[in-house]
Amino acid sequence: MGAVILGTGSCLPERVVSNHDLEQLVETSDEWIVSRTGISTRRISGKGENTFQLATSAAKKAMDMAKVTADDIDLIIVATMSSHMLMPSCACFVQKELGAQKAYAYDVNAACSGFLFALDNGDKHLRVERQQKILIIGTETLSSRTNWKDRNTCILFGDGAGAVVLEYQDENRGIVASSLFSDGTLWNLLYMHTAPSCNPEIEQADNPGAHILMEGREVFKYAVKAMQGAIENLLVREQIDLDAIDVMIPHQANIRILKKLVSRLGIKKEKVFINVQKYGNTSAASIPIALDEANREGRLKRGDLLLVCSFGGGFTWGASLIRW
Ligand code: ACO
Repeated sequence: MGAVILGTGSCLPERVVSNHDLEQLVETSDEWIVSRTGISTRRISGKGENTFQLATSAAKKAMDMAKVTADDIDLIIVATMSSHMLMPSCACFVQKELGAQKAYAYDVNAACSGFLFALDNGDKHLRVERQQKILIIGTETLSSRTNWKDRNTCILFGDGAGAVVLEYQDENRGIVASSLFSDGTLWNLLYMHTAPSCNPEIEQADNPGAHILMEGREVFKYAVKAMQGAIENLLVREQIDLDAIDVMIPHQANIRILKKLVSRLGIKKEKVFINVQKYGNTSAASIPIALDEANREGRLKRGDLLLVCSFGGGFTWGASLIRW
């Protein structure tokens, strides 16, 4: 009936950076960070933990669980906004590392919503090419794009990767439906430049370098409203009652956004999986990392109805329903 997740995997850098560590870099405190964001630690990449390397490790774990080999993979879609190169794509590096010779590969950039957008791509692809097996990966090394002198942003982000293997099955399970949205008119509330233009004729907005810039309060406001809207829209469209949701895995942005969203939706908080306290906001990687943890902890049972939702730069946002 749909694209079924055969296996999940994740990979986090070894180095744990605490709020106390950040107190050495900027004027902040553990108390401020925990109370405003819920984040206590994040993982920061070191040598050998590049965006594609984290992605490859996560993919290998997902493939092991799915019992598929690199030769079985037909397509690799990587969601990221922090690849070490603009070209080739991160997905091509993953394909090379895995030795997935027959797979074609490309990246998706929808910021923190990247994984959901890529998952929807994979689902739609499988509805046409039913025999295929697809790797969907969310991977980020936001530490390479963070201004470590800006206390407004450097406390929020972390590095990591998560992956799933998708296959079309005729059973009554898999990705049920998605509701995805973008609004480019709000781009300047959350953005990141690449490098200065080499073409003097091409106008650039104020370009302080490849850093994340953000209007935190505005992002907060839109994030809650947008994710709530996407979820309600999806449930009405699919004629599914909120009580039918067994597990909710939201993008792990920060605890205050999540608490507000949960209270506005009226979903029981025991159903909501949260790990932002350990990893911070890992953007496109946050949902597949949480999905893998929830799966390996036994939180997801066959037949469960899973709700995932995200919000990120663009703005981009959305929600998906998955019958596990
Ligand atoms: N430590 C101590 N003080 C700080 C820090 C810090 N790390 N950062 C900011 N402050 C100060 C500010 O300078 C300000 O001081 P002032 O009053 O003297 O000017 C004060 O704290 C309040 O600042 P605000 O920005 O108004 O704080 P707010 O309560 O809005 O919290 C936060 C900031 C946590 C960023 C909040 O706006 C938020 O969560 N926004 C959502 C952002 C987000 O999650 N972005 C991720 C990408 S999008 C996504 O994934 C959904």
